[in-house]
Amino acid sequence: MTVRTDAVAEESTAVHALPRHVAIIMDGNGRWAHSRGLARAEGHRRGVQTVRDIVRHAGRRGIAYLTLFSFSSENWNRPADEVADLLTLLRVFIRKDLIDLHRSGVRVRVVGGRENLPGDIGALLDEAESLTAANTAMTLVVAFNYGSRDEIARAARSLAAEVVAGRMRAEDIDETALARHLMTAEIPDPDLIIRTSGEQRLSNFLLWQAAYAEFVFVPVLWPDFREQDFDRALFEFQNRDRRYGGLSAKAGA
Ligand code: IPE
Ligand code: IPE
Ligand code: MG
Repeated sequence: MTVRTDAVAEESTAVHALPRHVAIIMDGNGRWAHSRGLARAEGHRRGVQTVRDIVRHAGRRGIAYLTLFSFSSENWNRPADEVADLLTLLRVFIRKDLIDLHRSGVRVRVVGGRENLPGDIGALLDEAESLTAANTAMTLVVAFNYGSRDEIARAARSLAAEVVAGRMRAEDIDETALARHLMTAEIPDPDLIIRTSGEQRLSNFLLWQAAYAEFVFVPVLWPDFREQDFDRALFEFQNRDRRYGGLSAKAGA
């Protein structure tokens, strides 16, 4: 049974189709914990439960690609015990949830630096991708150890290497070529980017890919983010007017 919420029940008044790709900056775990006098780790733990609920819900809504920013390349700057807590949660999530995701037909892709990751993390990420590689119901993109400037610099480096090796000419480097060298190659650009917690910034997330994304900033801390909040963001997206530098699709507008 599909649970209908008010936001989606109003679907008939929505102007545009649902987004194909939704990306979420899951923010506010620490503040959620702090406001309850709890340790930050508890906020992260509750955040994982929200991840489970939202992944399932996005699948029910027919979202083809869901990207979750789970750990940025700058998050290593946090205290060592918090980093350790976050890595433990990632391990637990993959060990406990991977089979369920696989059964639901979810393909897992991971974007972010994969070298020099501590312990078994790299192997777990590889396993999540290879186990689910043939699934087609939904693609869950996990951005882990991800930083967009790093990603673009790597793409520039590998394009330069192609030119040096004589496989490409400098004048052939265009937007398509650069996009093909990003970690998100083959993943369509996000249509909708949601950030929770009220912060209104990208924090080095999908800088290139977000060129024409719609942004929805939700003043709810990630552990409190519910299916209805997701639906409300979808509804808002469906009523935005995407112009891509041209004119409105609406006649005469
Ligand atoms: C998001 O919550 C989780 C990660 C960045 C890993 P935060 O830990 O950033 O929570 P706040 O922003 O301090 O509240
Ligand atoms: C962005 O959140 C990274 C993730 C959600 C994983 P941060 O909490 O790290 O971002 P800033 O430091 O507030 O910009
Ligand atoms: Mg934060």
